[in-house]
Amino acid sequence: MVELVRHDGLKSHWPFAAVRVRVPPRVFGLQAARDTACVSAAAPQIALSGVIGALSYALDVTEGEPPGHAQRSCQIGMRLAQALELDAATRSQLFYALLLKDAGCSANSAKMAALFGADDHVVKRTSKRIDWSGRLPAFVWSARTVAPGGSLRARLHQLLGIKAEGQLTRALMQARCDRGAEIALMLGLEAETAEAIRALDEHWDGRGQPSGLRGEEIPLLGRVLCLAQTVEIFHAAGGIRAAWAVARKRRGRWFDPALVDALGTLRGDDEFWASLAGGDAASWEPEDRLLTADDARLDRIADAFAGVVDAKSPWTYRHSDRACVIVMSLASVLGADARTMRDLRRAALLHDIGKLAVSNRILDKPARLTSAEFARVREHPVVTERILARVPGCEHLAPVASAHHERLDGSGYPRGLGEAELTRPMRLLAVADVYEALTSDRPYRRARSSDEALTIMRPDVPERLDREAFSALERLLAEQRDARGPSERSDARRAEAVLHPKTR
Ligand SMILES: [Fe+2]
Ligand SMILES: [Fe+2]
Repeated sequence: MVELVRHDGLKSHWPFAAVRVRVPPRVFGLQAARDTACVSAAAPQIALSGVIGALSYALDVTEGEPPGHAQRSCQIGMRLAQALELDAATRSQLFYALLLKDAGCSANSAKMAALFGADDHVVKRTSKRIDWSGRLPAFVWSARTVAPGGSLRARLHQLLGIKAEGQLTRALMQARCDRGAEIALMLGLEAETAEAIRALDEHWDGRGQPSGLRGEEIPLLGRVLCLAQTVEIFHAAGGIRAAWAVARKRRGRWFDPALVDALGTLRGDDEFWASLAGGDAASWEPEDRLLTADDARLDRIADAFAGVVDAKSPWTYRHSDRACVIVMSLASVLGADARTMRDLRRAALLHDIGKLAVSNRILDKPARLTSAEFARVREHPVVTERILARVPGCEHLAPVASAHHERLDGSGYPRGLGEAELTRPMRLLAVADVYEALTSDRPYRRARSSDEALTIMRPDVPERLDREAFSALERLLAEQRDARGPSERSDARRAEAVLHPKTR
């Protein structure tokens, strides 16, 4: 029996022992040895700051921010903490809160895009540059942002919709903040870190979101996050002069006056402000509190970020999770060794992380995509590769994760790789990805049954999809159907939830 722990904390038990392995178990191991790029060396001690710092780029793209926004916000927040002489334990809590402040950001992307009739990245990015707690600036911004390119009538209709959904916007902020806090806890970080993330958008005067906390009701670290992220955005646009102007203007409204005063003492630190261009926050982690990422923590991080990816769209809310379970089932049938299984699991969980850069206007579109929209979708594996290549301990997963839309005849994307380049883990992930997508609802069609999915996939074997991977899928589905013995009944039911989604 192999136990998989899902990103939502639930455990999926898979009756691998009940699946008769008809392929010699060593076959996969030998192949895996040939595909050395897909198997990592024994995990060394990896700095957690490097892993979270690299993955924070995925959060930046979700928010529509320039790459490195979270890292630079972290540097600013930590410099403030230094000026405030916060102790090392508190600075450690703050450090990870700053890097993960946007961990819940994908939870409201789909609703934001629908509410504004606009690209969620644009909505999110522009909202951070206005004084949204004031009625007039919020109205002017909404009027400018809704339904871009639409008729006056369409824009008015959308605006009225936003007005009617006043409570919804608060709920959207709540979802974002709660999800971010939950992810911090999932990663084993401290409660203070989670609470800071939850309070990210609360304002000193009580007019922030989602709880309207006021003054010192807002945790100190949350107050630092709020100031640091705003200062970063305005500093990136107009240097320290612009950053200081917005901090001073919102002193006592958005920001804790004492924090703004501390920022004032840093205005002349030219060396520090120039260092932001490097965008690496790692050196700001308290030296005597350096956290590391062992194998178990890397797994939890992959689970957590799969959750970030799956929360992006209601149509793919379990995609990474299910694709992971399916590919591991296939690998198990083919006798994969433990290290290959571990790598495949992480690659599968993170394979669509690049989709965070695609607007929900495209991902959730209930109609055929235009060629320009499809071109945006085709870029997502490149973004996946770019993000994973920066993550210490996961660099070797980047080529596997980013090849899930490649096809053996070279007709896939983004690179048109062919048979010679596509390793076995890549082929397995491609089959799992297609099967998962076919057996899930999409905005433009209903989910197919498992038999229908196999029928649709079969003509692509072996020219486009790997014969062995597809055969393993067929065998697995057949075995699952047969696995109805009394002792296996509950496991078989759980397996059916993923492999035969129509039976849910
Ligand atoms: Fe994909
Ligand atoms: Fe996918």
